[in-house]
Amino acid sequence: MNVFVAKNFSPVPSLAVSPNITVTAQEPESGLRVYFVQEGGQLPANLDLSWDQLEEWGFTGKKHEHLFLPAAGSILLLGVGSGMESACDLRDATAAAVLAMPKAQSFVFDIPDCGSCARRRTQLAIEGAMLARYNWDALKAKKYEHPLRDLTFVVQEEDLELAQKGILRGRLYARATSLARDLTNTPPRHLNAVDYAKVVEEIAPSFGLTTEIFDKEKIIEMGLGGVLGVNAASDQEPRVICVRYVPEHAQTKNPQAKIALVGKGITYDSGGISLKPSNASHALMKMDMEGSAVVLSTMSTLRDLGVQHEVVAWLMCTDNMPSGKATKLGDVLTIRNGKTVEVKNTDAEGRLVLADGLALAVEEKPDVIVDVATLTGAAMAALGTETAALFSNSDSLAEQLERAAVRADERVWRMPLDHRYCRHMKSLVADISNMGGPYGGAITAALFLENFVENIHWAHLDIAPVMSYESQQLWLTPGASGFGARLLSDFIEKFETLDEDVVEVGC
Ligand code: BES
Ligand code: ZN
Ligand code: ZN
Repeated sequence: MNVFVAKNFSPVPSLAVSPNITVTAQEPESGLRVYFVQEGGQLPANLDLSWDQLEEWGFTGKKHEHLFLPAAGSILLLGVGSGMESACDLRDATAAAVLAMPKAQSFVFDIPDCGSCARRRTQLAIEGAMLARYNWDALKAKKYEHPLRDLTFVVQEEDLELAQKGILRGRLYARATSLARDLTNTPPRHLNAVDYAKVVEEIAPSFGLTTEIFDKEKIIEMGLGGVLGVNAASDQEPRVICVRYVPEHAQTKNPQAKIALVGKGITYDSGGISLKPSNASHALMKMDMEGSAVVLSTMSTLRDLGVQHEVVAWLMCTDNMPSGKATKLGDVLTIRNGKTVEVKNTDAEGRLVLADGLALAVEEKPDVIVDVATLTGAAMAALGTETAALFSNSDSLAEQLERAAVRADERVWRMPLDHRYCRHMKSLVADISNMGGPYGGAITAALFLENFVENIHWAHLDIAPVMSYESQQLWLTPGASGFGARLLSDFIEKFETLDEDVVEVGC
């Protein structure tokens, strides 16, 4: 029994709440009415307003400036600057609106014409509003009092049907990101690998997914030396969680493609024997399982999106602890595919569990593998906190991911898989070392992983840079970001078979 965790604690509270969302062609009677206003642009015809008056009140229509007009019957004007150039601006605008009125629970938005179809517009508007109001209060005595209850979108009569479809997708995408945030925000004692596997087993059927859980005994039998090496000092068993989506419809007896996802699920990264310093970044290491949470959350969208591909996910879960039983520097681990790794730093543990995960994924010969991991501080040093690092052995795969990243507004930047960096990972005693040189740590980490993907199209997303935020930025809330769940859902939904060949390379 875990005496630190209340019986009724749920690590996935977001699954239990969701606003009512409607689209209508008629003006609704209640709710805070939001109008998007361009700088010096047209004002809502039904309101008796002039720019002279508005400027007197300090409203000029600058991006995300707002003015609340209670006398006019609960109206919010929200500035959109020179206009909404891309659909992503609409996601930002609804986020800005629900943040401008943090206690309001019912909002009514127009879906303006911003150059893309009503379905996508509605989807993004919902994502912005729902994600901006995400709030993880599972462990607070005083719960958040002002959740979003109703979202209404006013559209043209002819757009009703498409907008309706946008509701489904907006809700799904927002729920996926929220689910990833929930799991990632959960403290380490409230979610160890064993608990994590139970949660996945519990929620997966409702998303039309099947799960297979591998416990320590099975992990030993399977020869997952990376997972065992990282888990060696832990008081908790590791878990490898395999989650599967197989499209149901008869038309897809033969799914169009097979996609494998692999997620780093380090439920707490102390660094192991290479202990991390007790600083603020160490305190965030409960989030070192975000890659696996993002992978699971992506899986949660597939059935309802009607995805026609088969998708299999490997969540590689354990904590990384020091103790008398810990893996020592100089120890050599044998990965699932027989390759040996000299551990020169126990804090470079993510690549060890991912190596086993990638090797497992490869065995089913998928068309593509994507792994997601909070892998290196070096990625953050290189890119700051706005962009994740993307590595791939396939230009066409990288391009598809880059396009999905723009649509999701989860930005990635492709980095080089340059084999000249391999020389830093030489080991005298094993096939490879888990440490690179002093610089380019995100690159050597990615090159390490490449040794386990054979000739399969593979991409690696190092999400350490975007793992979490300290303060609210529109639809990004303080705490875990859930970065990648929307990107990957969109990528899988639109995935097109890759015809370029990949040659097996390694260090
Ligand atoms: N989980 C960390 C990477 C990390 C750091 C994620 C900061 C998010 C924020 C990873 O396991 C790690 O410790 N990496 C080391 C690798 C090094 C020892 C080769 C790093 O980045 O310093
Ligand atoms: Zn580490
Ligand atoms: Zn780590």
